[in-house]
Amino acid sequence: MERAITGVRMHLAAAALSLLMLALLALGARCMSLTQTRCAWNSLWTAQPRLDVPYAGTRPEVIAAMLNLAAVRPGDHVIDLGTGDGRILIAAARDRGAGGLGVDLDPVLIRDARAAAERAGVASRVRFHTQDLFETALGPASVVTMFLLPEVNLRLRPRILAELEPGSRVVSHAFGMGEWQPDAAARAGGARVYLWVVPAQVSGAWQYALDGSPSTLHLAQEYQRLSGRLETGQGTYPIRQGFVRGTGVSFVLDLPGGSRALQGQVQGNQIRWLQCPGAPCEPSTRLGTLPTSALKEGPPPPAALAGPRPW
Ligand SMILES: C[S@@+](CC[C@H](N)C(=O)[O-])C[C@H]1O[C@@H](n2cnc3c(N)ncnc32)[C@H](O)[C@@H]1O
Repeated sequence: MERAITGVRMHLAAAALSLLMLALLALGARCMSLTQTRCAWNSLWTAQPRLDVPYAGTRPEVIAAMLNLAAVRPGDHVIDLGTGDGRILIAAARDRGAGGLGVDLDPVLIRDARAAAERAGVASRVRFHTQDLFETALGPASVVTMFLLPEVNLRLRPRILAELEPGSRVVSHAFGMGEWQPDAAARAGGARVYLWVVPAQVSGAWQYALDGSPSTLHLAQEYQRLSGRLETGQGTYPIRQGFVRGTGVSFVLDLPGGSRALQGQVQGNQIRWLQCPGAPCEPSTRLGTLPTSALKEGPPPPAALAGPRPW
């Protein structure tokens, strides 16, 4: 009898040990996986959201460079995508007087972020939500901050161009946005940070009064770069060095009598010329409606993921 009980006990102990080994193996596998939010015991029985980017914190000197590059200031509404423990948004609030929203799929990091915001004394100006960045409305942001991955940036790119107001700034730690070249870049603590200013959409035909004579300005836009021509009764003249930065438009118009540098400001369906030498600066009005595709991205890039990247 005694021996039978001992045998059962040994079997139970062996079974318990096997279960523990299995749990340790499962936890080990979870801890090795970069796309799981958590490698804690409770992750073995709670559903874990799959991350598009594993957690890694941005260092303070890199955060300072990001906030400098984006010129974050009081009144800015910063949306921090994949906020982690909230350090970028908290620095934007604490050091720059901004407010905003941080989103992350990891509820534990979001709890840490809220606690850190309390400690930093900025909890009244920042909110943190456990939320998918792909389901976060970007429209209210004047600044978007991110430390994600190149393919995640590329998935966000059409939404950034469509949802953010022209002139809004996007700043990314380490990764670029494909053929949408950054408007500025900086280096800090061995890392690269990139800035884009969301351009107004100016593709299409615009009425333009060249020295009082009606003519048509045809603009083609690829992100912040502009090409095009001016069609007048006398001929067709190319434009060069064309740029859109936020709502600002600038280019050089090569006319028979010499080149003219133009600068204007887009306001809805008008360009108000701030500088148009040799001509009365009548505002230009958009001719026809803007094609829907132009509101989303520039002309579709031939190979979205190919080609050299700026990082
Ligand atoms: C590289 S970390 C950056 C953390 C923080 N922004 C920083 O720079 O210190 C990326 C963050 O994105 C979060 N993340 C990954 N996929 C996400 C998604 N689909 N929606 C929201 N957050 C996500 C991860 O949990 C992680 O905290």
